[in-house]
Amino acid sequence: MIRRFRPYFRYLRPQRGLLIAAILCGILAGIASGFGLPYMVKKTFPAVFAVGATPLSAWELTLLALWIPAVFVVRGVATYLNTYFIQLVGTRVLEAIRLDFFRKLQVLPLSFFQKNSTGDLLSRGLADANQLQVTLTTIANEIVRSPASLIGSIVFIAWTAYTEKGVALVLVILAVVPLSVLPIRYVGKKLIKRAGQIQAELGGVTNIFSENLSATKEVRAFSLEDREVARFGRASQTLIRAQMKFVKYEKALAPLIEIVSAAGISLTLVYAYKVHLAQETFITLITALYASYEPIKKLGSLNNEMKRGLGALERLEEILTAPVSIVDAPDARALTRAHGALSFENVSFSYQPGELVLNEVSVQIPAGTVCALVGPSGAGKSTFAHLVPRFFDPVSGRITLDGHDLRSLRLADLRRNIAVVSQDPVLFNDTIYHNLLIARPESTRAEIGAAARAAYAHDFVSAFPEGYDTIVGERGARLSGGQKQRLALARAFLRDAPILILDEATSALDSDSEAAIQLALKKLVVGKTVLIIAHRFSTIRDATTIIVFEAGEIVATGNHAHLYTASPLYRSLYDRQQGAA
Ligand SMILES: Nc1ncnc2c1ncn2[C@@H]1O[C@H](COP(=O)(O)OP(=O)(O)O)[C@@H](O)[C@H]1O
Ligand SMILES: [Mg+2]
Repeated sequence: MIRRFRPYFRYLRPQRGLLIAAILCGILAGIASGFGLPYMVKKTFPAVFAVGATPLSAWELTLLALWIPAVFVVRGVATYLNTYFIQLVGTRVLEAIRLDFFRKLQVLPLSFFQKNSTGDLLSRGLADANQLQVTLTTIANEIVRSPASLIGSIVFIAWTAYTEKGVALVLVILAVVPLSVLPIRYVGKKLIKRAGQIQAELGGVTNIFSENLSATKEVRAFSLEDREVARFGRASQTLIRAQMKFVKYEKALAPLIEIVSAAGISLTLVYAYKVHLAQETFITLITALYASYEPIKKLGSLNNEMKRGLGALERLEEILTAPVSIVDAPDARALTRAHGALSFENVSFSYQPGELVLNEVSVQIPAGTVCALVGPSGAGKSTFAHLVPRFFDPVSGRITLDGHDLRSLRLADLRRNIAVVSQDPVLFNDTIYHNLLIARPESTRAEIGAAARAAYAHDFVSAFPEGYDTIVGERGARLSGGQKQRLALARAFLRDAPILILDEATSALDSDSEAAIQLALKKLVVGKTVLIIAHRFSTIRDATTIIVFEAGEIVATGNHAHLYTASPLYRSLYDRQQGAA
């Protein structure tokens, strides 16, 4: 089993020095327990309780009395340093594991996040990483420390028995030690199944928790308070049941080992009676025997720790080894500034195998055209647009930019040439200034102000007491939908990319700002290749080309005048809009 952890011991490697110091202290503590304690008993008890011996001088008595604290000082200091160093190594290991996990989340394809819930990922990245850290450091520590202490006590038993009463006694006592291993094996088997289950249930609980926190409005609007509490309560119960199943077996281990060790002690007692063993020898041996069970118990719980760690490891590995499908090709082509000519060639795409969302779509979009995508909801417009920045790759067919397959271009270069404004833009919990800056980190304050002006955001930003230094709240919670969209547009202005994707980018605007934004958009789209999905046809009418989607296929292309006569679907969509307006 320990072999499964071997690849992860690389996390310990940078902490090698500290780890060695910890282990050395651990060995010292182990010897102080395994050998030091019984030796202390042997050294002091007979002298104190000896009948008819010459009385001890004050000096001798002091020395004798010092033995006991001395052993405990060595053991205590060594144990303290051992645990301190191990914790230090542990926190650094945890940091590294968590960082690797987080780094991986940044590059996983978007499709991954549709299959895995936030709560589950949170619990893997936090709880499972934590568990793996505990396991790794515990293994690294106990694997040396407990055997050292065990060997210390066995050496002591062997030495005493050899000098006092001969080999037979050694054999009797040593025979008891391996017996204690039996419960470890039995309990261990029961634990492995439970461990993974606990972590999975924990994911369920985290999931409900985080989902609830992101739906605070819905909970109140639909009076879901009781339902949510009940849902959380149920998940919580399931988790507790899984935890208790683990505890049931885990906690049985120490008593089982103690019972076996009690049997060992009584066996020794019987033997002592038979061979008329001296009382002090017996007490010394019992101490040694007892000292030897401590490390056996530790090794037993180490076994449990590994089972638990294995559960966490498997769950972490599912993420750490998940394929990153969207990466640079080995010979990826660099791209400075694209012209912006896009071509879709027989592109098909599906989110789930077998369910085509785009079916053999082909279309040419020359550089500098404003291209509107229209069609009923669910027709595949957003999906089509998302293929351009390679949020997803086509299942078949190919998309080219200036004649190069998107998959042959360096991903970072490709994305730098694209500005995406979505329906529900996300702002980071930071200042407005920093939220705009991410669009082009080298921009000056003046450029950011200009972009905000162009997106009609400057006025409302300036109205805040702290202006551009206003913190927007989690996901931009302190701003209205329209304000967020205007900041998202300001990002697009700032980015100034040759390709612009606007996916219902004006849907949250009120009619007043919509008119202003239309003007802004007219400026923004000049000279760019634009894919625009708009809910209002006022924007669409001015597009160079309009592509009409229906059920994952392109059913018509052309300009407004052409489509209005040629495409019944387009005409009905258009008329319905006009009627509504
Ligand atoms: N992440 C997803 N996973 C599975 N199916 C999806 C996903 N996103 C969209 N779909 C499905 O793909 C189809 C097209 O969706 P979309 O491109 O968003 O349509 P539109 O933007 O035209 O409204 C819809 O049937 C939708 O249910
Ligand atoms: Mg859409």
